Amino acid sequence: MLNRRKMLGWMTAGGVAGGAALLPSALTAGAAPAEVDHTGHTAAAGAAEPAARRSFGVTQFTQVMPVPQTLTPVKRADGTETYRIPIQTANFAFTPGKPTPVRTFGGQFLGPLIRAKTGTPVEITFCNQLTAASNVHLHGGHNPQVSDGYPMDLIQPGQSRTYRYPNQQQGATLWYHDHSHGTEAENVYKGLHGFYILDDDAEKGLNLPSGQYDVPIMLRDAQIDADGALVWPNFAPDRTTVLTNGVVAPYFPVAARKYRFRLLNTGNERGFRLTLGGLAMTQIGSDGGLLPAPVTRSDITFTSGERVDIVVDFSNQPIGSKFVLSDVSGPVLRFDVTRTASDTSRVPATLRPLPALGTATVQRQVTMKFDDSGNVGLVNDQAFDVNRVDFQVKRGATEIWTVTNTDTVWGAPHTFHLHLEQFRVLDRNGAPPTPDDAGRKDTVLIMPGESIRVQATFTEYTGKYVYHCHFLDHSAIGMMAQMEIVP
Ligand code: C2O
Ligand code: CU
Repeated sequence: MLNRRKMLGWMTAGGVAGGAALLPSALTAGAAPAEVDHTGHTAAAGAAEPAARRSFGVTQFTQVMPVPQTLTPVKRADGTETYRIPIQTANFAFTPGKPTPVRTFGGQFLGPLIRAKTGTPVEITFCNQLTAASNVHLHGGHNPQVSDGYPMDLIQPGQSRTYRYPNQQQGATLWYHDHSHGTEAENVYKGLHGFYILDDDAEKGLNLPSGQYDVPIMLRDAQIDADGALVWPNFAPDRTTVLTNGVVAPYFPVAARKYRFRLLNTGNERGFRLTLGGLAMTQIGSDGGLLPAPVTRSDITFTSGERVDIVVDFSNQPIGSKFVLSDVSGPVLRFDVTRTASDTSRVPATLRPLPALGTATVQRQVTMKFDDSGNVGLVNDQAFDVNRVDFQVKRGATEIWTVTNTDTVWGAPHTFHLHLEQFRVLDRNGAPPTPDDAGRKDTVLIMPGESIRVQATFTEYTGKYVYHCHFLDHSAIGMMAQMEIVP
């Protein structure tokens, strides 16, 4: 039966409908079809939205973009950096002067920024001060099962849990977020997300823009009501407010020099397709770290959970010039060139070679879709069951998984996210991967009817890890499965 609520969710909130052409006509009858491009955006949802409604009274480019605050370890001892972060409610004003309760790491809507170094373990004790269960997953991290934030390993209210991250992986823009079974969508939507940036010495040696010129930017959407409150229903039909580091269409003063921007999409069910007012974006990294070489991009598409690291060179731009970073739904951020600054950073022609692919010995098939009611998410035709192991993987194995979006009934885009290992996209619909698929990846978009092949090698750790659609509205209703890695 047609579930109108969910249809609207896909059509507008995520900006992720399959497009009129991809939607069976029986379904388009129930919900107004929107203009959609191949990225999974509902162009109409944001673009046609009157600016005042989209921004709830906030005039665009009037607020400075905040940057996440770097957290200082409470202790550095025995080669380990120790942090303590409460999971707590806080008030945050999406609309100036109208604070509203959100769920946060450390009282900050953006979450404190953890800056870790490859080779130096980090231990974080999260203390849950909410009245609901939570837990924490380090997205993109290569971590022991006990520290992976397995959905059933909950931190009950009043309890705390210590996660240990060995950081034996190369530099990358990672992020941490709630992963509590069935409530991850709500918790992340309400603010349980933060950056975790891993630096390594080889990357430092490249002399890419760093320090204040290395800026994390979190993009997500939200539904804000007239009182400034954050509205939560799963599949909210009206998540038309785009937040850039928590603010609607802010501006960010920059010097006429090179910057590194680490883009992270924490939207529950949302793609962005970004352009930068005619300026080139030089992509240097994706989910799992640096690309082998910089790639000039005129537009970049990324969906929930993905990261894109870019360098933008403002050095030839006169003071007073302005460049707008726009999504297909409208402007998300304006860079204002306000000063000069010296710049000894560079973007070398080669960054870091990708590891050799290895020979795969196991092939698997994964399908993703909703059931016919539209209320249950399925992986290989089954909803997530914590008591069922879907794939048994031999530690050390290299495998190729063919992941297909079989959602022909609902025409919904899905994403594929694998815990524990970065993978590589071998091909997409039999054709070479797109620039959005490049490098070491842990999350990719798969449009209805599309099929990708990914290859991963499962090293070091054993135990149960999940893989799922990273549209958290979908994973929360079952679109998740688990593998058990065995010695
Ligand atoms: Cu970003 Cu299983 O999650
Ligand atoms: Cu999905």
